[in-house]
Amino acid sequence: MDTQTLDIINRLSTAQLPRHIAIIMDGNGRWARMRSLPRSAGHYEGVASVRKATELCSDIGVGYLTLYAFSTENWNRPQQEVDTLMTLIGMAIERETPDLIKNNVRLRLIGDIDRMPDDPRSRLLRCRQATAHCTGLTLSLCLSYSSRWEIVRAARLLATECAGVDTDLTQISETDIESRLTTTGIPDPDLLIRTGGEKRLSNFLLWQAAYAELYFCDTLWPDFGKEELAEAIADFQKRERRFGKTSEQVSHHPDKDISQSDSRH
Ligand code: IPE
Ligand code: IPE
Ligand code: MG
Repeated sequence: MDTQTLDIINRLSTAQLPRHIAIIMDGNGRWARMRSLPRSAGHYEGVASVRKATELCSDIGVGYLTLYAFSTENWNRPQQEVDTLMTLIGMAIERETPDLIKNNVRLRLIGDIDRMPDDPRSRLLRCRQATAHCTGLTLSLCLSYSSRWEIVRAARLLATECAGVDTDLTQISETDIESRLTTTGIPDPDLLIRTGGEKRLSNFLLWQAAYAELYFCDTLWPDFGKEELAEAIADFQKRERRFGKTSEQVSHHPDKDISQSDSRH
């Protein structure tokens, strides 16, 4: 572990860490434009930030990191940018695979991966296979992903399974939807970060983020390093998550617990 990470760990509160952090990695293009560079230079630089976020999450014991790398809507960008991104994703994942294994990081792929060109797709699948035994951080890459795509897909799966079978449709539950989302098995994100200054979700984890704490920052993704991620986590740790309840219900004062158990008698 490097000294910067050790320093961050010492400064982070011992309060609960988010179990799952999801990030909308935005601002690569603007980072490049500010330097009069092609947009691809921003995407290239963004890979270094992916590495930093993965390392920090792995080192401090976050269980799940989910990164929005390419949305369904991003297919509509100029073909040259799409091609560059696909090549970059394939190259980066192959290069990083040994370190992912070393750090016990397991790769999960989320999205309509079949839409990706053969070369980057097969590199991604190889990495997923090579890290399948890892038991540390689960790194989910969202590629050709959008929330509406996945919800429609879940509805189709469920409808297909119910068709022709004598199912009591009133029994369809949240779990039935959840188990057909591409994120099934991953807990909902606790902290959802968007870099790059925009305050929107852009079709990311709309179902799963129902109770996520949202954190928006102006830092462009290539400038988002371990310090910035630690700041987002520190901000998360100051929040009170109420899940619809009152503050009194969710705050854990030992005295309150005693009076609550008393009041039951
Ligand atoms: C995010 O950066 C990366 C992807 C969406 C693939 P952008 O490419 O959206 O950068 P900006 O928002 O144009 O600065
Ligand atoms: C969201 O960023 C998608 C990813 C980060 C992969 P966009 O740059 O595509 O989002 P919009 O278009 O500004 O909403
Ligand atoms: Mg953008």
